[in-house]
Amino acid sequence: MAIAVRPVEVRPLEERDLPAGERIFREAFGTAHGVADPSRYWPDRNYVRSRWTADPGGAVMAGIEGASAGIVMAVRWGSVGVLGPLAVDPLFWRSGVAGRLLESILENPRLRDARLPALSTAAGSVSNVRLYQRFGFWPGFLIPVLAKPVDETVDAKATAATPYAGLREEQKDEALKECAALTGAVYEGLDVSHEIRSVDRQALGDTLLLWSGVRLDGFAVCHCGAGTEAGEGACYVKFGAARTPEAFESLLGAVEELARARGLGRIVAGVNSGRRAAYRHLLARGFRALSHSVAMQRRDAASYDGPDALVIDDWR
Ligand SMILES: CC(C)(COP(=O)(O)OP(=O)(O)OC[C@H]1O[C@@H](n2cnc3c(N)ncnc32)[C@H](O)[C@@H]1OP(=O)(O)O)[C@@H](O)C(=O)NCCC(=O)NCCS
Repeated sequence: MAIAVRPVEVRPLEERDLPAGERIFREAFGTAHGVADPSRYWPDRNYVRSRWTADPGGAVMAGIEGASAGIVMAVRWGSVGVLGPLAVDPLFWRSGVAGRLLESILENPRLRDARLPALSTAAGSVSNVRLYQRFGFWPGFLIPVLAKPVDETVDAKATAATPYAGLREEQKDEALKECAALTGAVYEGLDVSHEIRSVDRQALGDTLLLWSGVRLDGFAVCHCGAGTEAGEGACYVKFGAARTPEAFESLLGAVEELARARGLGRIVAGVNSGRRAAYRHLLARGFRALSHSVAMQRRDAASYDGPDALVIDDWR
């Protein structure tokens, strides 16, 4: 039943709002996923606090008569702007809160000035797709979110990659440039330096760098374990890219080795199904779908989901 229409106010999410933001995130997604106690949903995941810490300007809080009602966040990957999470306290669903949050975040430079504003949402949610469509986002490919148990027999030497966390500051700057060059070759202006820095500064995991001499052939930004986007026992590939199929294979091996070294039992990675080669590699390596999201993008800008794009990400 809809509650009476009350004015929704939106403002930047501040540090003092983080507990409320995290509570709303759990209540919203827990309720949407039908769990018995939404307040305890995903207690091992950190999305709201870590993203806010990395970029406080990319988050909006909605309130109704002084009560915290919803949050939305956005991040900039160079030419790409990624929207999410969007979560509204179930007490206030169907009161226009999400609509107000979307109006506000779409005016944020992280999305407003992006060549490709993008998001993903549950592929089976007709109402979510309709909500985003009202704001100019159109559905594209499915994004299978895949997982596999960690292979204990991986040969560490065969998959050696350099951990970003171990570099000196000037080497980190150089590595960020190389990563941006690699992603820029996939899609003009794509640059996930923000994610690499966020993982490094907050010790959420590590970024694996795969070098071939002085050339970077691939890299993977990984969240590891509880208190990150991966959750207890998991290594989540937030973003990965490689120049060649061989490098992509090696990168997956290096991720497996990182997970094993950190005592994590499974690897999670999302891939746009338009990226056939990457998707096939993951399936061949034993990854299997946990769930399906759908990619949605605003404007008719081309994306980086062509069949040869060796890229892992799920725009969550
Ligand atoms: C998806 C979600 C954010 C929507 O939040 P919301 O605040 O209920 O959304 P809105 O109120 O702006 O719009 C939702 C619907 O309510 C309707 N609505 C808005 N104001 C209304 C009002 N005063 N009375 C009746 N209906 C109203 C809208 O028209 C819309 O209808 P539709 O589904 O038929 O298109 C919320 O359900 C949620 O947090 N879900 C879990 C997390 C999630 O899935 N997030 C998004 C994917 S990443």
